[in-house]
Amino acid sequence: MRMVSASEDSIKQAAAYLKDGKLVAIPTETVYGLGANALDGEAVARIFAAKGRPQFNPLIVHVPDVAAAEKLVVLNDHAKAVASQFWPGPLTMILPRREDCPVSELCSAGLPTLAVRVPAHKVAQTLLKEAGVPVAAPSANRSGHISPTTPQHVHDSLGDNVDMILAAGACQNGLESTVLDLSGYVPVVLRAGHVSAEEISDVLGVDVAYELEASETPKSPGQLLRHYAPRVPVRLNAVEVLDGEALLAFGSIKFMGRKSGGAASDMPETALRNLSESADLHEAAANLFRMMHDLDRPEHKAIAVMNIPDQGLGIAINDRLKRAAAAHK
Ligand code: TXA
Ligand code: MG
Repeated sequence: MRMVSASEDSIKQAAAYLKDGKLVAIPTETVYGLGANALDGEAVARIFAAKGRPQFNPLIVHVPDVAAAEKLVVLNDHAKAVASQFWPGPLTMILPRREDCPVSELCSAGLPTLAVRVPAHKVAQTLLKEAGVPVAAPSANRSGHISPTTPQHVHDSLGDNVDMILAAGACQNGLESTVLDLSGYVPVVLRAGHVSAEEISDVLGVDVAYELEASETPKSPGQLLRHYAPRVPVRLNAVEVLDGEALLAFGSIKFMGRKSGGAASDMPETALRNLSESADLHEAAANLFRMMHDLDRPEHKAIAVMNIPDQGLGIAINDRLKRAAAAHK
């Protein structure tokens, strides 16, 4: 891990690191973020591994301006008004992903929405412009630790799990951004921050509700933070494919058979996805939500999922698969 003071040169290098799929801790006016190229699913997967997060919660994607946000999400009238008042600044908006949104589905944890923010910090601004890609960044701390407001906090919490720390002193606010969900009919604040619901309400001319999460990892998933689950039932630890099932494979399927006879590898393209042929958990995490969506078709009786080792990122993958399986029980 390299800790470097933010300068024209080091920002250029940080941008190159990001484009290269590496993790860079970046200063913002709220807290330090653990940044990765949001277009690169494996880089995003590395964020979860570095944080030791046992769950895939959706991440905030950072862009330099409203125009860059518009390439990712649909900005309705409320969003435009909020953006012109509070961006750049300590406010995140949750909005519907555009149909052609290029951001990895892992950032959305499979949801049809994406959290976007335009930070005001000068270093973050310069870096985002230089990188030219949207940057996914949760707070740069290990899961369960408090959010870092100095480069030293990042170092103490993440150590060598981050490739570079772009150091720019203490964060001005020291409190995470306000998270405003504008994807539904009523504007809802999901996380309190510097910008209050009252201020937002004044700009929009409508009531803004608070629906705060209990903690970073909500205790009762699905209550506030809605999780993606396929409409088709999910069957875990499959060792063969039953009639009418699709297969979500992991690793080699050379010895995987179909109950009705024949090899799983001969299944039609619409019914077969492999999270990672080489059994790489980073690749599997990057593919998870996209492939679940691909196989979530009414013609399939269920999605059979092969066993995934319960270690490292496998823990987060299995957490999500177990929830998907439980959704139909
Ligand atoms: O100030 C901040 O927001 C910092 C800096 C680095 O920008 N970032 C940050 O990210 O605090 P994180 O991942 O620690 O918190 C993101 C919050 C979580 O509570 C997450 O559940 C929520 O935003 N969130 C993100 N995307 C969402 C979505 N599509 N739907 C609902 N909630 C979402
Ligand atoms: Mg956090």
